[in-house]
Amino acid sequence: MFDRIRISPSILSSDFMNLEKEVASCEAAGADWLHVDVMDGHFVPNLTIGVPVEAQLKKIAHLPLDVHLMISNPLVQLPWFLECEPDVATIHWEALDATDPDSQAREAIRLMHEAGTRAGIALKPDTPVDCLRETIAQWDMVLVMSVFPGFSGQSYLPESADRVGEVARLAEEAGAAPLIQVDGGMNAQTVRFVAARGADVIVVGNGFFKAPDRAEAAKSIRAAAEAAQDVRGR
Ligand code: DX5
Ligand code: ZN
Repeated sequence: MFDRIRISPSILSSDFMNLEKEVASCEAAGADWLHVDVMDGHFVPNLTIGVPVEAQLKKIAHLPLDVHLMISNPLVQLPWFLECEPDVATIHWEALDATDPDSQAREAIRLMHEAGTRAGIALKPDTPVDCLRETIAQWDMVLVMSVFPGFSGQSYLPESADRVGEVARLAEEAGAAPLIQVDGGMNAQTVRFVAARGADVIVVGNGFFKAPDRAEAAKSIRAAAEAAQDVRGR
């Protein structure tokens, strides 16, 4: 909790015809990670990026790859995505087999760690945070979705700040300190609410790629987040 702020631009909002230039612009703008939104047209209605594009990104990017897997049956395809050696891979809790999600979660964490990848778990806005009670200490990152996954450009859901606080509390109770990521509708205004409650990795799609000056956008989001952390005390 209250780790340094990391900005992770979501390339879903970038110009896919110029992906290499867009990645370079993230680096030039001072981003920390590169967020890759994988959607399978089943877990979410949208279809986006798959393994071949992730592999290309791995070749050209100097920033850590932060792969957000919005896919059904994540254990089946996870090994393919891990072959590209992302720095962080995040699966969705709701995509795990509801009869025994904890053991599926542990298996996913094992696969990720074996590949040298940090293990992330994402929660949709209406999934109770308490589902992580058994495994919270084993995740390296918890992603609190601040929109329903599927599309960029949606508005931030205000109840997300309380959910970040709940994750931080659950982690603290377990003696754990996973990174807390927030994804959806982030900008220099909305980031304040979640950073004040313990979010330290901020995904930004439209708020970064559609900004007139991307370096300025990254800078102002980081500054707003750090100021909000300071109010609570680090
Ligand atoms: C939504 C994706 C987000 C999205 C963020 O399902 O996971 O990463 O691209 O885009 P903005 O910041 O525009 O909401
Ligand atoms: Zn995402």
